[in-house]
Amino acid sequence: MKSEGEFKIYLSDHDATIELGSVIGKFVALGMLIHLAGELGTGKTTLVKGIVAGMGGVPVDVSSPTFTIVNTYETPKGILLHADMYRMGQCPLIDDTGLLDAVEKKSAAVVIEWADRISTQIERPDIIIKLMHTLVEGKHARTAIISVGKPLIDKIRQPLLQFAIPHGAK
Ligand SMILES: Nc1ncnc2c1ncn2[C@@H]1O[C@H](COP(=O)(O)OP(=O)(O)OP(=O)(O)O)[C@@H](O)[C@H]1O
Ligand SMILES: [Mg+2]
Repeated sequence: MKSEGEFKIYLSDHDATIELGSVIGKFVALGMLIHLAGELGTGKTTLVKGIVAGMGGVPVDVSSPTFTIVNTYETPKGILLHADMYRMGQCPLIDDTGLLDAVEKKSAAVVIEWADRISTQIERPDIIIKLMHTLVEGKHARTAIISVGKPLIDKIRQPLLQFAIPHGAK
């Protein structure tokens, strides 16, 4: 994706990750594709809980789809499909999962953990979020790098900047 905007945001704890997801979830629409990248345990599933909350859904329903490959959540804004490509092997065929079909038909929004493992098969994510382990003054936290494409950037820039002010940004 040629990113229209990039934001780097410090996430001091679990709740900050949920809150960031919730900000993003308010802008999620059917047909939207979100890539989550980042090493093991960086908070990708936690971020999805926030996204579901932001879509008005029940975050407690969110669990890691590491073994099921795809979880389905119903929210007032429509269905969110949550996939995890960690165990999909070297060269999985994303078409077999129905995820791209959902994006094309706008029947659901799609969020994919470890999307970098299959990124060659996906053309245009609307948002890419990379989470990183961060150690600040002995405290284990996270940093998120968020890349947003057009046309979403015009809508989401201010909410992300507002979120970043109390949480730290560069
Ligand atoms: N900003 C943060 N600071 C510190 N801990 C966090 C932060 N965000 C999430 N966590 C914690 O990190 C741990 C791992 O979270 P989570 O399961 O969401 O990561 P993940 O990236 O989905 O892992 P996996 O790669 O195994 O799928 C959880 O205990 C969660 O509470
Ligand atoms: Mg996970």
